[in-house]
Amino acid sequence: MGSPSSSATSSSIEKPKQGLGWMEWLRGWFYVIYEFLFQRIMASHLQNPIPLPPLNDLTCIITGCTNGIGLKIARQMAESGAHVVMAVRNTKAAHELIQKWQNEWSGMGLPLNIEVMELDLLSLDSVVRFAEAWNARLGPLHVLINNAGIFSIGEPQRFSKDGYEEHMQVNYLAPSLLSILLLPSLIRGSPSRIINVNSIMHFVGFVDTEDMNVVSRKRKYTSLVGYSSSKLAQVMFSSILQKRLPAEAGINVVCVSPGIVDTNVARDLPKIVQIGYHLIPYFIFSAEEGSRSALFAATDPQVLEYCEVLKADDWPVCAFISHDCRPMNASEEAHNIETSHKVWAKTLDLIGLPSDAVEKLLEGEEIQCRYQPSRE
Ligand SMILES: NC(=O)c1ccc[n+]([C@@H]2O[C@H](COP(=O)([O-])OP(=O)(O)OC[C@H]3O[C@@H](n4cnc5c(N)ncnc54)[C@H](OP(=O)(O)O)[C@@H]3O)[C@@H](O)[C@H]2O)c1
Repeated sequence: MGSPSSSATSSSIEKPKQGLGWMEWLRGWFYVIYEFLFQRIMASHLQNPIPLPPLNDLTCIITGCTNGIGLKIARQMAESGAHVVMAVRNTKAAHELIQKWQNEWSGMGLPLNIEVMELDLLSLDSVVRFAEAWNARLGPLHVLINNAGIFSIGEPQRFSKDGYEEHMQVNYLAPSLLSILLLPSLIRGSPSRIINVNSIMHFVGFVDTEDMNVVSRKRKYTSLVGYSSSKLAQVMFSSILQKRLPAEAGINVVCVSPGIVDTNVARDLPKIVQIGYHLIPYFIFSAEEGSRSALFAATDPQVLEYCEVLKADDWPVCAFISHDCRPMNASEEAHNIETSHKVWAKTLDLIGLPSDAVEKLLEGEEIQCRYQPSRE
């Protein structure tokens, strides 16, 4: 029998981390509150809307752009000349928006180059269908903006038809599948970028790869746990994806924090809290202000240089751009490279891809996804 101290040491080595340490957790909340209180001051150097260069040669897919931050990103990119693909679940609303934007734009230049494709992130076969349809065009994709997301505050735990906790699926698993399946088009568009609209809330997230659905009762499920874990998982997955993509592939992965933004994200809050939320406009960004970090990450040439520097330095985390369009350091837990590798492996399994999916796609080979709709 080993001594108490030796058995304590070996058990602390073997025992996987069950959550954030309280110092990490406190620091996390400090960052969230700091962003809330000071985001306007920190971003006071930015214009609103953020000026964009001409984007006439750019094709960009934006998920979830019938509302909130995504809507502002889509409209501004289209008005700057990009070919914008609105990847949305409500195609009728997207067509109505395009009609409105074309009317308001008429006389200001060429008609906006914008189209709609259906994508429901609550269904992984919808993601596969979307990627197959896009890749079949054999055209380049320069920017993928994974913007769509949910934060069902105060709602009970729900699962998609694929069996995954909804925050995990919409905010993380489905966008990860989409990013990988679109690699052939992103290679054609190289230098290209995958932009993930992430959140400062990843600082208070924790990912247990044995319990991605938060059902084991090791942790009590709340929408905050679901949301923050999905955002942290996204940073970890993005970091490994960035590492697996050789510099020659010319595809860069960037996470951004939009700030604390007044959008529909608050629609599930109790009415009284919603009123409070709208009464504090000084602190909270408008959707247009919240779109700036994603627009900056998607279009600024310095961002590519920054990604190249991080890659050359073998930095453990992918590029992260803050709400003020400056690079920021992701959370301490996001630097846990061992967990990031576990998250990567687990995720490929959950989204039904082989472990060498990225390498095969880079070689120009085809891959099979478990969620491929059957062709009859
Ligand atoms: N607002 C904030 O303070 C804040 C802070 C940090 C990060 N973010 C992140 O910013 C991103 C945009 O959020 P937002 O604040 O603009 O929220 P929002 O106004 O609620 O917009 C979210 C968008 O995602 C779409 N969406 C939701 N579920 C979907 C699904 N199953 N399939 C396809 N699209 C789906 C929505 O489509 P419908 O229009 O059909 O509902 C909507 O267009 C999210 O990733 C969010 O986590 C927001």
